[in-house]
Amino acid sequence: MSEAEARLFVAAEVPERIRGAFSRMRDELARRVPAARWVRAEGMHLTFKFLGSTPRSRLTELGDAVAAAASARTPFRLTTGAVGRFGSARRPRVLWIALEGDLEACASLAASVEAALEPMGFPAEKRPFHPHLTLARFAAERPASVPEPTGPALESTLGGLSFPVDAIVLFESLASRGGARYEVRRTCPLGSGAGAGGGEGREA
Ligand code: 2AM
Repeated sequence: MSEAEARLFVAAEVPERIRGAFSRMRDELARRVPAARWVRAEGMHLTFKFLGSTPRSRLTELGDAVAAAASARTPFRLTTGAVGRFGSARRPRVLWIALEGDLEACASLAASVEAALEPMGFPAEKRPFHPHLTLARFAAERPASVPEPTGPALESTLGGLSFPVDAIVLFESLASRGGARYEVRRTCPLGSGAGAGGGEGREA
């Protein structure tokens, strides 16, 4: 990618408690399931919208659009759930941990971000929004089943952890040795709820 372009996406960060829990088991997982590319724990996130390669000159206007969408929504809470995958059991593509809790508020935020970005040239997703935290990706040419004990181990460590979503971030994804690194380009707080029901779900 040229210096003039940035690979952008909009996501919520997850707290250290969750990243730390994953980090402590990541090396063992990488040994047991070497066919997977396990994410860096410090970069775990909940993706709302992938923008892809975008001219850097648009960062400010895109940040403004995401900030406006975020400020119109109030904070909410999510809880980590079960392990799931995209792809089949024999050919998994992505391994993730599902998110539960206030999924309605989560989907509304995703819809607001989509609506803000669509007129700026980023077509809305055709697939339904499926909130998750990606844990690992599998290269297409290296199909590998996920060993049976991996899911329960992940679930008992990573499941049932509740966290607030009170901001979304415009991130730049930078390719690097050992997996992508993500840099914050703009942090966009969710609104206080003034005039929209009084800031429900704000407690940490
Ligand atoms: P996911 O891992 O939550 O599914 C940054 O690259 C983020 O954007 C990834 O974590 C991924 O979200 C999402 N992403 C990457 N490439 C994508 C693509 N081609 N289409 C949609 N989302 C993508």
